Amino acid sequence: MSMTRRTFIKATLGAGVGLSFPGGFVFPSRSRAQGKVREYHLFASRARINLGVGPDFWAWTYNGLVPGPEIRVKEGEVIRVILKNYLPEETTIHWHGVPVPNPMDGVPDVTQKGVRPGESFVYEFEARPAGTYLYHSHARYQLDQGLYGPLIIEPANMTGAYDREYTLMLEDWVMMDEGGVSAPRKRANILMGMMGGREGTPPSRAPLLEPGYDGYAVNGRVYPEVVPITVNQGDKVKLRVLNPSSATIYTLSMAGHRLTITHTDGRPVKPVETDVLRIGMGERYDVEFVANNPGYWLLAAMEQGLGEGELRIPIRYKGTLSKEPVKPLFRPGLRFVSYWDLRSLGSGDTPSSEAPERFYSQVLSGGMRSPYWTINGQVYPEADPLPVTKGERIRIGYWNRSMKPHPMHLHGHFFHLVNPDVPKETWIQKDTVIVNPMEKVEIEFLADNPGKWFHHCHNLYHMMAGMANVLVYY
Ligand code: C2O
Ligand code: CU
Repeated sequence: MSMTRRTFIKATLGAGVGLSFPGGFVFPSRSRAQGKVREYHLFASRARINLGVGPDFWAWTYNGLVPGPEIRVKEGEVIRVILKNYLPEETTIHWHGVPVPNPMDGVPDVTQKGVRPGESFVYEFEARPAGTYLYHSHARYQLDQGLYGPLIIEPANMTGAYDREYTLMLEDWVMMDEGGVSAPRKRANILMGMMGGREGTPPSRAPLLEPGYDGYAVNGRVYPEVVPITVNQGDKVKLRVLNPSSATIYTLSMAGHRLTITHTDGRPVKPVETDVLRIGMGERYDVEFVANNPGYWLLAAMEQGLGEGELRIPIRYKGTLSKEPVKPLFRPGLRFVSYWDLRSLGSGDTPSSEAPERFYSQVLSGGMRSPYWTINGQVYPEADPLPVTKGERIRIGYWNRSMKPHPMHLHGHFFHLVNPDVPKETWIQKDTVIVNPMEKVEIEFLADNPGKWFHHCHNLYHMMAGMANVLVYY
């Protein structure tokens, strides 16, 4: 605790120049009761950071780090996180993708009161199922100020042999004090005034427009300071690719190698080779490749076009003369595996053969003539909840009637992605799904985790502009 305290003082009072925080601020502790509790201390505070390129600036951080420290446990262990809030406003932590008990889900005013400045909150839940997850603040715009980190739950008995493993967080940054909230942009109320917006909204309450980003980082480093993936010739390499970005979808590609997708959103799929990987906000992919061809980048193209820059990850072969890496070409003919090409491994969570008991249709729109983003024309919190009863099978049909893609995320559950062309047993499980412009997508899940669950677009600026509602058990 004293170390935590001291670090906080450093983080807050440390002047100017890039403070470096050693990695040891996460304290796995020995068992209290069952020999399985893993305890971590996360303190949320402003800290002076540098992404390797660009200016030093004040970000909002866990333990002074961006991204926050990796939490890595084994399936079945108990994660206990003591969050201490040193920020100037309320905060929470959400365990993105993990079907935690409802009071641990970390959504302010839905599952808990926001943790006030100076106060603490203890999160505790069983780590399951194994997979690649995120943790992040669910308060206001804090996600776009730096409050996120990776959460890895390893299988209890490790399967799948690989020689090395990397966690890659793909991050969009506004490299200014306080991050994404301070980017120069028009407050939406100006637009609203022009367009004739909702009446009675105080200007300061109007949602922020998406910022333009000026840095794309991998694990908190912008190219050329990105830490390379270092391999030996012949290694089988596992990459956990996570997208905690607030408003950027990436399309990744690597020349000279084939990526094999093994998991999406932590859930196993039948391994399938691809040249291109598209990953939306909140999504995760586990991929593998064999390092047999030195001299290439893993390169991400940014889809949304508001920001500038490039996201590059060098692959460095040990003992090989380093040559200038070759960019992958996003040329026609590259193999692009989409959701509809993925098949579940059928890991026991097969959707029942019965028809779903309830169907909710969710029309996604907004953006064109209003600063608000809507589901069925409603702006959260003035949005109808989706009532369900435990044990029911629920289907949600999205219809995106806007010109932007929306990565829709459901808390507390994995869902199956309905794919009418293939048998149900092979429908993949996810917790976040990109619904493209003018596309219709359906998901189906078993209502098996009672509570109030947030359901929203994982573009932070769409979520904060109303594209959300709550699934409620009765
Ligand atoms: Cu990462 Cu409500 O989500
Ligand atoms: Cu959206």
